[in-house]
Amino acid sequence: MKIPTLDTDLFAPAVMADPFDAYRELRDLGPICLLGETGLYAMGRHADVKATLANWHDFSSAQGVALNDICNGFMRGTPIASDPPDHTKFREILGGPLQPKQLAQLRGRLAELADERVQEVVGVGRIDAMLELARHLPLRVISELVGLPDDGRSRMLKWADAGFNSMGPAHDPRTEQALGTMAEMVAYICNPDLPARFREGSWSAELWKSVTKGDLMADAACQILQGYVTPSLDTTIFALGTLLHLLATNPNEWRKLKENSKLVPKCVNEALRFDGPGRGFSRVVRREVQVGDAILPVGARVVTVLPAANRDERRYENPDKFDILRDATDHVGFGGGIHRCVGGNLAMLELTVMLDAIVKHVSEIEVFEYKLAENTVLRGFESLSVCLH
Ligand code: HEM
Repeated sequence: MKIPTLDTDLFAPAVMADPFDAYRELRDLGPICLLGETGLYAMGRHADVKATLANWHDFSSAQGVALNDICNGFMRGTPIASDPPDHTKFREILGGPLQPKQLAQLRGRLAELADERVQEVVGVGRIDAMLELARHLPLRVISELVGLPDDGRSRMLKWADAGFNSMGPAHDPRTEQALGTMAEMVAYICNPDLPARFREGSWSAELWKSVTKGDLMADAACQILQGYVTPSLDTTIFALGTLLHLLATNPNEWRKLKENSKLVPKCVNEALRFDGPGRGFSRVVRREVQVGDAILPVGARVVTVLPAANRDERRYENPDKFDILRDATDHVGFGGGIHRCVGGNLAMLELTVMLDAIVKHVSEIEVFEYKLAENTVLRGFESLSVCLH
């Protein structure tokens, strides 16, 4: 069967700013499409994306999950760019501090910090919600938990931005610029003098104990460390900004939340379904595999377009409606299968304590102008002017 081609460029600035019509086009063309002349394949239907992410035997991550070869070369051997058995080992170590039991101990502190910050910004007039609110917990607590020394900690946001931008298509000028910054990050993290400067008791310091004990090679520890540094900030920051914007522009949903704060976790999941930060990650076909009626050749690179799957009308009724009463727990905003976001529980915790505090202290969220971030792989606001009444 001939595989249809999506002519709309998913990475054109206007499409990235408002991609949902293009995502519908992608879904309607079929279970699998070619992306213009790029040589990449893409899928946008929920069932296919879920099945692909669950099938690491046929769809491998070991050749990187980005959309260009240079970045895929950089990420090879990191947890996100590995298959079992390597991945299984990585995941066990990486996930250690992110287990529900460990996170339960963090909850009280995060809730207190969220409450304090929301009270500081309520009723003060216009603020940039990205700077004053969305960044607060990730920068204050998460970067501290990761445990880089201050010169690294202060560069984490820059690295996070570059980490995602470096994953875009080869022809995008942002990709090339970001790759330079990534090289800087890798050099910093792999510097053999760094571990002595990790914050005592932090995730990085704990990781390094395994190296000292001889349980883990230093190279592997550097690869794991990258999994803490690049994806732990921007993702959650963007998600909180979008959540605020959605609640401000959907007053009926905000009213439901004010009337029943138990809906907070449902609302967070629905926001991640409706407009989550990740635009998509890729896999490489390891042996000929059938998708719909099409046979994909060995070596084909397939992009799983997560936000397209999250708006699939084959899976969700009225998918373009932000509905906080919907059960959206099976959204693929955190991916799926063995690579499902290892920080997902932490992100949910950060987002729920923030929203709890907002629901408690804010009567109305008023939004003014905003600017979308220029990011090829993440979607969110760079700035978002709001007034919290
Ligand atoms: C709302 C916030 C977040 C979103 C939407 C998100 C999204 C994702 C997605 C879609 C994947 C799967 C990538 C793939 O299949 O190739 C992923 C993997 C990953 N995420 Fe997140 N993420 C978030 C927060 C975090 C946080 C806070 C951390 C770190 C503490 C983190 C660390 C990771 C790591 C290390 C992986 C790779 C896991 C593996 O390969 O087994 N993420 N994330």
